[in-house]
Amino acid sequence: MKTLRVLTGITTSGTPHLGNYVGAIRPTVRASRLAHVDSYYFLADYHALIKVGEPVRVQRSTLEIAATWLACGLDPEQVTFYRQSDIPEIPELTWLLTCVTGKGLLNRAHAYKASVDKNNAAGLEPDDGVTAGLFMYPVLMAADILMFNAHKVPVGRDQVQHIEMARDMAASFNHLYGEHFTLPEAEIEAHVATLPGLDGRKMSKSYDNTIPLFVPRDQLRKLIMGIVTDSKAPGEPKETEGSALFQIYQAFASAEETAGLAKAYAEGIAWGDAKQRLFERLDQEIAPMRAVYDELINDPARIERTLKAGAEKARAMSRPFTERLRHAVGLRALDSTNRDTPAAKAAKLAAPVFKQYREADGQFRFKLLDARGALLLQSAGFASPRETAQAIARLRQEGAAALADLTPLLEVLGDMGSVATALDHFKAAD
Ligand code: TRP
Repeated sequence: MKTLRVLTGITTSGTPHLGNYVGAIRPTVRASRLAHVDSYYFLADYHALIKVGEPVRVQRSTLEIAATWLACGLDPEQVTFYRQSDIPEIPELTWLLTCVTGKGLLNRAHAYKASVDKNNAAGLEPDDGVTAGLFMYPVLMAADILMFNAHKVPVGRDQVQHIEMARDMAASFNHLYGEHFTLPEAEIEAHVATLPGLDGRKMSKSYDNTIPLFVPRDQLRKLIMGIVTDSKAPGEPKETEGSALFQIYQAFASAEETAGLAKAYAEGIAWGDAKQRLFERLDQEIAPMRAVYDELINDPARIERTLKAGAEKARAMSRPFTERLRHAVGLRALDSTNRDTPAAKAAKLAAPVFKQYREADGQFRFKLLDARGALLLQSAGFASPRETAQAIARLRQEGAAALADLTPLLEVLGDMGSVATALDHFKAAD
């Protein structure tokens, strides 16, 4: 049975590179094959609008990322694979969450704070150039996660704060309107070392040092030949420590292959030969996927159909769930009855209760607790649960009047006024 719901999204603002593949795509595709995992993977194109103002780029990136995920082995039959903007319930939930989110919470978001700090340092207005979209980013992300009640959200370290904020929003909403949301947890890919880029710094779009995952073969080779190395000559032993080339190789190769390259480094392999070795090893893993990718990217209609089918699957959940949430907050048909209002719920929770239990001595007892959980009555031991139930039934039906007969069977008898009030509650309810 699928017991663990895992959800993650990729913002459609660029072309997937080797770092994305090793850090996010490959591990999530693998996780999606585990029998107990119910995976939700999506293209975060609403998020892309926060950073990208070029419509064509958003569209192209959405196509590329969808094709990449599929080419890397994501099976849309096994997972729920969709595009965020195909789920109109997500912006709707964003608003419901916005209304339970403190503005102060959003002020503390790292991405927003970084922009403010930069402006302050430059002597500009704190919010100069900051859109409300950037400010609201964590709420939209919380809606992505909470809509499907995900348990685990695999993300990079930079996103952990967003998951914590989603938990805060879920807890606030639940507190106000009842238990609707699961509190999600971040799952950090800690063992995945960040991949270095062409210049040795972390591979990242913002450093312009990436190797796109699916460039044509000859271009891949050219890019790899451009990875920075030191100036050691052929024959001179090379250091694996701090070698970007070595680290990229390691992310793709087996332990033995990696040991083999380390040995070649020690024996003074020429950089050109080491690069050729990296190229061949990368291409071995990438080539079969590249063939699928090229096919997919040239058939956008097919990807569009896949995403639309995924959206239907996702909306089979998001539609009824949103209905429930709308009702919970009071967006209701005017002639619908008030089921489960918070007040009714609180009243139910705050009712006195009878509890039946069995003691270590093997005898059966019951207790009556008031709305706050304080003990009002505790019975002596009965031989069977049936006798216990009969005593409870009399108290429920006859109220305080039954106490005269039952007193000998009680070990604890609290304040009579409180006991009578509690018992009246049952008479009224039964
Ligand atoms: N903010 C994430 C990123 O840029 C992408 C994202 C959007 C996401 N919504 C999400 C990730 C929900 C996980 C869950 O990496």
